[in-house]
Amino acid sequence: MKLLDLYAKMKGDLAQIEKELEQSVADDHALLNDASLHLLKAGGKRIRPVFVLLAGKFGDYRLDVMKRVAVPLELIHMASLVHDDVIDDAETRRGQLTVKSKWDNRIAMYTGDYIHGKALSIASQLPNPQIHQILSGALVQMCIGEIEQIRDFFNTGQSVRNYLKRIRRKTALLIAISCKLGAIAAGTDQKTANLLYRYGYNVGMAFQIRDDLLDLYGTEKQIGKPPGSDMRQGNITLPVILALQDDRIRDALLREIELIRAGGGARDASLAIDIIRKSAGGDLADRLANRYIKKALRALEGLPDIAAKKNLNDIAHFVGKRNY
Ligand code: IPE
Ligand code: IPE
Ligand code: MG
Ligand code: MG
Ligand code: MG
Repeated sequence: MKLLDLYAKMKGDLAQIEKELEQSVADDHALLNDASLHLLKAGGKRIRPVFVLLAGKFGDYRLDVMKRVAVPLELIHMASLVHDDVIDDAETRRGQLTVKSKWDNRIAMYTGDYIHGKALSIASQLPNPQIHQILSGALVQMCIGEIEQIRDFFNTGQSVRNYLKRIRRKTALLIAISCKLGAIAAGTDQKTANLLYRYGYNVGMAFQIRDDLLDLYGTEKQIGKPPGSDMRQGNITLPVILALQDDRIRDALLREIELIRAGGGARDASLAIDIIRKSAGGDLADRLANRYIKKALRALEGLPDIAAKKNLNDIAHFVGKRNY
């Protein structure tokens, strides 16, 4: 199933969210406006607002309340992408130039902060302090995840456990809280909010594992940027960690990673990718992603049978197989 089909029932509400997103970054400062709109208009899956809305369906769903959670979550995600592209030295995102390459790193720093500020300004309209605590806690964890990734660049000795801890922070928590905050804003009971959190956390883990697989196995058309970016950057992801455990290719892969490191970004990653493809790393990573999807589906079982549950179920299946 395509994402647009999965979003079909929410089309009207998502159009509202889109309008609010556009308005939210509009300001009298032309440069900040342009840079933010550039990323916004480049597209994206909008999966975090979708999770907020679907989670809200388990409670008292009012769009005017839900959008105060959904819009900030997409904005926080966008801000993190603008910063991420500085860290990852990425030229393209969503098939367009990144803010850092269309403008520069300094402008990207403040565009990210600006989008972030707009997110907080909208979220501040929500009176519930628990929402702000959860949001700020996740933001702190995201920073730790990204900084640990920098620390671990080219560290070929890192464990799977290490990797999982990092992606939990940098990706899964934001998706988990999208679900939980949607539930809390709609006033569900704690048990429902926690089950939705567990669903989001597990989908989020699978989401990043698939992202890392796509960087090695996807095409530029699918992922909106050249594949192999993680490898060139020294970001050792799950398929690579698992490939390194394969004795038949370990030495060749270590040698190639060292050449990439020594080349300082000049060396292409295609040889490393060819080696990884000969190992079981991709299949094993795929299997782990599927295990997280199963856990996400199990969390859903405890929830009432409403239409949103079926939708969340379908989205989890989509994430487990996603190729964009
Ligand atoms: C990209 O997120 C960053 C990760 C957490 C992997 P998305 O894949 O949701 O990016 P867009 O919003 O669809 O561009
Ligand atoms: C996710 O990691 C980024 C954040 C959580 C901010 P990636 O660096 O893999 O994301 P992409 O691949 O650039 O979208
Ligand atoms: Mg990154
Ligand atoms: Mg990146
Ligand atoms: Mg990636």
